[in-house]
Amino acid sequence: MRHTQLGAWSWPLALLLLFATFTSTALGAKHGDFKTCSQSSFCRRLRSLSQRSTASGFHSPYSLGQGQQSDISQKDGASWTFPLNTELYPEIKFALKVDFVEKGDGIARLRVDEVDSKLPWKRYNEAAKWALVDETPVLTSIGNVRKVSSKGRTSFKYGPGHSLELVIDHSHFKITFRRDGSDIMYINERGLFHMEHFRAKDEQQPAEAVDGAAAPEGNQQVFSARPTHGDTTWFEGEPDGELWEERFSKWTDSKPKGPEAFSVDISFPGVEHIFGLAEHASPLSLPSTDGGRYSEPYRLWNVDIFEYEHDSTMALYGAIPLVHAQNGKHSVGLLSLVASETLVDVTHPKSGVQTHWMSESGIMDLLILPGPDPMALFQQYAALTGTTDLPPQWALGYHQCRWNYIDETDVLEVQRRFDEEDIPLDVTWLDIEYAEEHRYFDWDKKHFPDPQRMQNEVGSKGRKMVAIVDPHIKRTDDFRIYKDAQEKNVITKKSDGTTNFEGWCWTGSSVWVDFFNPESWSWWKDMFSFNVWKDSTKYLFIWNDMNEPSVFDGPEISMPRDNIHHGGWEHRDVHNINGMMFHRATHDALEAREEPAKRSFVLSRSFYAGSQRYGAIWTGDNLGTWEHMAGETSMLLSLNICGMTFCGADVGGFFGNPTPEMLIRWYQAGAFMPFFRAHAHIDTKRREPYLYDEPYKGIMRETIRLRYTMLPIWYTAFHEASTTGIPTMRPQYVVFPKDEKGFAVDDQYYIGGSGLLVKPVTAPAVESSEVYLSDNQPYYNYFNHHMYPASTKRRHVTVPAPLESFPLLVQGGNILPVRTRARRASTLMWRDPFTLVIALGREGTAEGELYLDDGESFDYQKGEYVWRGFKAVSTTGETTVTSFSKVEEHSNNISTVSVNDNAWASKIGDVRVEKVVVLGMQKPPSRVWVDGEPGDLYWDFEYGKASNGKSEGQASKLTIKNPDIRIIREWTIRIA
Ligand code: GLC
Repeated sequence: MRHTQLGAWSWPLALLLLFATFTSTALGAKHGDFKTCSQSSFCRRLRSLSQRSTASGFHSPYSLGQGQQSDISQKDGASWTFPLNTELYPEIKFALKVDFVEKGDGIARLRVDEVDSKLPWKRYNEAAKWALVDETPVLTSIGNVRKVSSKGRTSFKYGPGHSLELVIDHSHFKITFRRDGSDIMYINERGLFHMEHFRAKDEQQPAEAVDGAAAPEGNQQVFSARPTHGDTTWFEGEPDGELWEERFSKWTDSKPKGPEAFSVDISFPGVEHIFGLAEHASPLSLPSTDGGRYSEPYRLWNVDIFEYEHDSTMALYGAIPLVHAQNGKHSVGLLSLVASETLVDVTHPKSGVQTHWMSESGIMDLLILPGPDPMALFQQYAALTGTTDLPPQWALGYHQCRWNYIDETDVLEVQRRFDEEDIPLDVTWLDIEYAEEHRYFDWDKKHFPDPQRMQNEVGSKGRKMVAIVDPHIKRTDDFRIYKDAQEKNVITKKSDGTTNFEGWCWTGSSVWVDFFNPESWSWWKDMFSFNVWKDSTKYLFIWNDMNEPSVFDGPEISMPRDNIHHGGWEHRDVHNINGMMFHRATHDALEAREEPAKRSFVLSRSFYAGSQRYGAIWTGDNLGTWEHMAGETSMLLSLNICGMTFCGADVGGFFGNPTPEMLIRWYQAGAFMPFFRAHAHIDTKRREPYLYDEPYKGIMRETIRLRYTMLPIWYTAFHEASTTGIPTMRPQYVVFPKDEKGFAVDDQYYIGGSGLLVKPVTAPAVESSEVYLSDNQPYYNYFNHHMYPASTKRRHVTVPAPLESFPLLVQGGNILPVRTRARRASTLMWRDPFTLVIALGREGTAEGELYLDDGESFDYQKGEYVWRGFKAVSTTGETTVTSFSKVEEHSNNISTVSVNDNAWASKIGDVRVEKVVVLGMQKPPSRVWVDGEPGDLYWDFEYGKASNGKSEGQASKLTIKNPDIRIIREWTIRIA
């Protein structure tokens, strides 16, 4: 997206100019539109602290008083509150609250707030309310935490077997997190913890106003002696001229509450890699920000950025203040629940990784996720923020979007062409031009005369549609949404707290509903009811874009920070949550429109911790370049480990006209993204796959079909993600947390727990590609069954990747359930038979699973689903393949379900396994039969390498044809 000063110009003229800007702009983000650290007074102040901290004599001015068990509301829960004092301002009081959460194997929560302020302000303390599933998580009982106090130190032992320990040094204030006696994390080890207290405006004389652009760098003074009482400059630096009012470009932020920033340093000893802080276009393992590759901290401040850079710490559309730190022995995580602008410096000294977190406002609310491995971290994070909403199954199919399909004929023609070319398609999208004057909900009836007819026509083919609904609302009295929003008084206010804030976006002069206001929720729900939005049908789903929010004529293309939201909170306090509130409201609305409810599908651009509960996100306006394509993999992996597993990138690249070669590579990459959607800017040439000549068209068709073949694997992976929080795209460090060599690998990944390993090709003229293998298992090329033998050594293997192929390997030891029949749409596949591909491991064993339900209702929550496990075991002379119920295996967790005795299981009771392929058997069998059944099965065997062999080459392949078995049943195939 892009913005420009629209001022008094007429809108059509401005629009023309806007489009001209898109086409003429040279590629690259407009740096001047966005703040650097030195252009934010709080970041300038707090970052320079880290420079002063290296001076001798520097120490934390904070210390703790004796703690006491608190408080009435927590009753028996493990919670303590300590007075936290600062020698800089002895009269100011802070408090540290230490809680231990019951869920998640011992999550410690540390909150710091200012107490007893004489001023009428409060720090924003509601990030937890929106991010966490339970705003005040149940605390572990007091008996499960052992508190030991000694002079100047309090320590808490907690977690499984009391193996975790939080040691709090009182003076100078420092917290050490330990597992089994080893230090894992330090908080305030470097003394950078600081919370600016609320003050009256005249309390401090500001120095000469400093213009944001010409900011002073850190005070380099050396303190050889202990600073004198009352002298705060050794710690805070020279007074900053922008404590009370701040300028950026032509905007002035009135900052009515003055300074209230806070910072804290968090170090991870013995660690070389940290991951997280989505969303950035940076490597998965976060590089330092001290002047090498990056010199700006990772910035979390949701923005609509035009042509973002593919390698940068600049802010993007979403913000998840979460890191994972990882070494070969352990993982630990940290979530900072703050919604104001947050910047994080990362450095890699020899001792480990150091981070410095700087936030503009709010309380400090840190949650320590204890690990000890990545899988545990995901589950701990999910215990707090929830899991991914199980998507409707069709949402995992292929989505065709562009800005814009221009009218009904265009939309129907797209359907026809996909059918004609036998290319599967599930969802057709409508961008902003479907709406009259970009007044979302109001169809442009000239081009879409009968939206219901069109949707029903698309729906009749088993497909769906998505239409965009952006948050900016056109200010015109004949627009019902605007009128309602005014009447209900749910519009975000200007800094005076009473006047509606107005700004520019696609639709011209607009207002923005304040979705923090509960009054807006049920009203928004109604907007999507079929009775109210008469032009919508059950086939129509929603895309929420521009929800950072994007305001073309606002500071950093967003809202002024001093705007006011419900509860009197300033926009600065809640900015990073803003997009999630919109996403949430639409998600809830779609769930409410049918009785019984169907699952919703809402794509959002902006997100925060917890957004996974509301639907999918994508990486915004990428460029059709090889660099952007390459960068998507690490971005999506980072999103995945931050909980946003339902994510994708614009296939083809939003800007630009990809060559057929590049487009094919985008499709191959996209087919292995959790959310698979082609999208393109309005100025690009049409690029639907059917428009290309052979061989390009055929390759794209096969790629999309491959996605459909693998839908059972994706859906099973989403089932796991939705129940455990474990992501569908798993980077090397997650699957092999002991292999430090693999930690920086972020251009290949595993799909769920399936053992499928994919490495997209993201460069031109590639013929082969190297894949890194961590484990002692054979790997099989999915396409041609070439086997790379097991080895105790970590290794790279070379995989052919001519245009029609790319590395897609199956890790030995896995069973893949796939569906190979090509269909028009995924909703037509539910009766199709399965093929089981058994990739034998080194020991001749393999395992897999399959989750199935109706794909759209919530009946699965009542037990209406089928969840099968498959196991292959080899003993001398015999290999058996069995199918069993995963529900029974996990029956401790599930109370209401009786296996296969449910309506969905009956409905698919006849679905067959049509083929079983076993890769890597040592020798041809003499007999293959189903246990308990008379007669042998048809099979054939191709000689090749066995799974326990040492040399590379074609794997042996046993194909069992049409075994008379049902996917939902128990059975055993014996191969002897
Ligand atoms: C934004 C979105 C893009 C969309 C465009 C028009 O730039 O990121 O996907 O096509 O707006 O709605």
